[in-house]
Amino acid sequence: MSFATHSRSTSEFAGSSANPARTTLILAITGASGSIFALEMLRALELDERVERVHLVVSPSALRVIAEETGVSGRNSLVEKLLGCASDKIMLLAHEDIGAPIASGSYPIDAMVVLPCSMGTLAGIAHGLAGNLIERAADVCLKERRRLVLCVRETPLNLIQIRNMAAVTEAGATVFPVIPTFYNHPQSVEDITRNYVHRVLQHIGLPQPGAYAWGSEETAED
Ligand SMILES: Cc1cc2nc3c(=O)[nH]c(=O)nc-3n(C[C@H](O)[C@H](O)[C@H](O)COP(=O)(O)O)c2cc1C
Repeated sequence: MSFATHSRSTSEFAGSSANPARTTLILAITGASGSIFALEMLRALELDERVERVHLVVSPSALRVIAEETGVSGRNSLVEKLLGCASDKIMLLAHEDIGAPIASGSYPIDAMVVLPCSMGTLAGIAHGLAGNLIERAADVCLKERRRLVLCVRETPLNLIQIRNMAAVTEAGATVFPVIPTFYNHPQSVEDITRNYVHRVLQHIGLPQPGAYAWGSEETAED
C-alpha cells in the first residue's frame, strides 16, 4: 500500500531558495492512534527544501498501530513504503539505539516532534526515563533548551496523564494535542491531517505554503 499523494512541488516553498538556512529535525512516531498524521508530516518534511535531515525513530508499538491503521507493516523499507518513494533525507534510526547521534546534546538539532505521542512515551519523557532513543532524544532537547513538541493523543485523560503534560510543559516542551479543526471547513480527512501538520510546522518555524490562516482571505506564505 502506498501513500504517495504529493500534490505540491518543492518550488512552492518560497523560502527554500531565498533562505539558505537548513533545518535538522527529529520525528518520533509512537504507538498512539493517528498514523495518518505522521504520514502527512513525513510528506511535508520530504517536500520542504528547508529541511536538510530528518532523524526518524519509530517505536515498536507505533509499528503495530501503523499496521493496524494503514496496512503498512514491518520496519524494513518503512519510509519508502509510507512515502511511496525513497528519501535521501529521512533516516530511520533504531528505537533501542541509545548510541545514535541524536542521543547526545553535542549533535545539533533544531527541533523534535513526537507525532503521535502516546501516554506511555509522554510519561517516560515527563519522568526523564531516557530508556529508549525517543525518550533520550526528548530528554536531550529539554536539557539543551531545544524545541520539543509532543502531539499527544488519548481520550479521556486520567490525572496521571494530565500531570505528565503539566510536567513536560514546565520543563519546556509544547503539548500539542492531536485535535482537528473545523473552522477551516475541511472537505476530507486529508484536509484535517494537513491543517494539523501545518500548525505543528508553523510552531517550529516552518510555515507551509497554502496553510490556512483564520481571519485572512489569503493563505499564509513563509
Ligand atoms: C491500535 C492501537 C491504538 C492505540 N492508541 C493509543 C492512543 O491513542 N494513545 C495512547 O496513549 N496509547 C495508545 N495505544 C497504546 C500504546 O500503543 C501503548 O501504551 C504502548 O505501550 C506505547 O508505547 P510507545 O510509547 O513506546 O510507542 C494504542 C495501541 C494500539 C494497539
